[in-house]
Amino acid sequence: MKDSNFLKEMNARSMWHPMAHPADSLANPPTIVTGAQGVRITDVDGHEVVDGVGGLWNVNLGFSCQPIKDAITAQLDQLPYYSIFRGTTNDAVIQLAEELRAFFEPDGLSRAFYTSGGSDSVETALRLSRQYHKVRGEPARTKFLSLKKGYHGTHFGGASVNGNANFRTAYEPLLAGCHHIPAPYTYRNPFNETDPERLAQLCLQALEDEIAFQGAGTIAAFIMEPILGAGGVIPPHASFMPGVREICSRNGILLIADEVITAFGRTGSWTGSRHWGVQPDMMCTAKAITNGYFPFGAVMISEEVAQVFEQDDTGKAAIGHGYTYSGHPVGAAAALACLEETLRLNVPENAAARGAQLFQGFQALQQKYDVIGDVRGGHGLMCALELVSDRATKTPIDKGTINAVQEQAYQSGAMVRVSGPNIILSPPLVLTAADVDVILSALDTGLAAATG
Ligand SMILES: Cc1ncc(COP(=O)(O)O)c(C=O)c1O
Repeated sequence: MKDSNFLKEMNARSMWHPMAHPADSLANPPTIVTGAQGVRITDVDGHEVVDGVGGLWNVNLGFSCQPIKDAITAQLDQLPYYSIFRGTTNDAVIQLAEELRAFFEPDGLSRAFYTSGGSDSVETALRLSRQYHKVRGEPARTKFLSLKKGYHGTHFGGASVNGNANFRTAYEPLLAGCHHIPAPYTYRNPFNETDPERLAQLCLQALEDEIAFQGAGTIAAFIMEPILGAGGVIPPHASFMPGVREICSRNGILLIADEVITAFGRTGSWTGSRHWGVQPDMMCTAKAITNGYFPFGAVMISEEVAQVFEQDDTGKAAIGHGYTYSGHPVGAAAALACLEETLRLNVPENAAARGAQLFQGFQALQQKYDVIGDVRGGHGLMCALELVSDRATKTPIDKGTINAVQEQAYQSGAMVRVSGPNIILSPPLVLTAADVDVILSALDTGLAAATG
């Protein structure tokens, strides 16, 4: 590895960063992370902090999960790659499919379609849902519904169902036939409704209204995150996702749960759908499926949807979709080891306990700092602070101040993530109570320094 002066000098000179302005990356060089152990990361200057971001919502078991590292190494030695396109397969994916089938059995999902990440999983689910209706003889069902504030990756399909202009406007025109309904976001919504249950009902009515307007027979699927993540951690009321399920079933619309961040324990339940007692028709997974150590994902498919494809005798169910790295054996080996560790460690239990601690800590910070307009969380290890410059008008905080909070928190021991006016926390699910205290105290220092 080159020395630190070289790295700092070159930093963003010859590369563009995702989700950043190239000029900003040059003007404000990103933190160069060079090592990690447990739940801590170390930068090029040797500064060590608790990673409150968990990589990018994916390193659920921390950075030192030896069984996954060993599985990756062993698989590289045995079979570093082979395709699973028609005609060939590999042993690792077969074994993984059986394990995933057992894991997702309570969600009613029994088939896996492998991908290389979250955006690929979303694209796969959207495409397969259109095909499902064509196979069933309802080819006019092509539209997609989703939530404003939702995040579904950045492929054209995913961006089209995304509910945030930041990922859309520069890339328009997007896919035709994608329509959005208000998110159950109590702090800001078009109904001015602060009661979560009443707001959930209003959003469900908006969904019914949109379906009636579009015509149920034109809609293929509704896609949602069980708890909205990247959009600022928005947990809906417990009645919301079951309500969506009921409306979708009644109208012949598939329900796709985008669980790229919520599957495998983050919400304090094994999946976000299970958290709300819902069985989706498809579930998008990625990220924590390999603990972030290998780019990999799987779309899980319900028995009912699977039967429609498998019993087709017209040829319409031939799948014209897939990626070179669908079913990569190294990813599958990583996922097998990761699943075993995830189950052995029973991560939802710690996610729920540490999540409650973090959420309470956030509520205490809100008492102390006027700049914290809203605190969201309470369902496992996904929490957010929404910062405002004025609580009464809810004016979003300026960029300079929120970035200063992040920088000061980093200097004080915790990496946190800034997304618009939100500070988002999604730490590894294996962190301890003491690690949570480090995050809270670093944020306290950051807020005091930047806003005091
Ligand atoms: C809910 C959700 N869906 C899809 C994606 C896209 O995943 P990826 O960045 O792996 O393509 C993300 C990424 O954060 C996500 O949070």
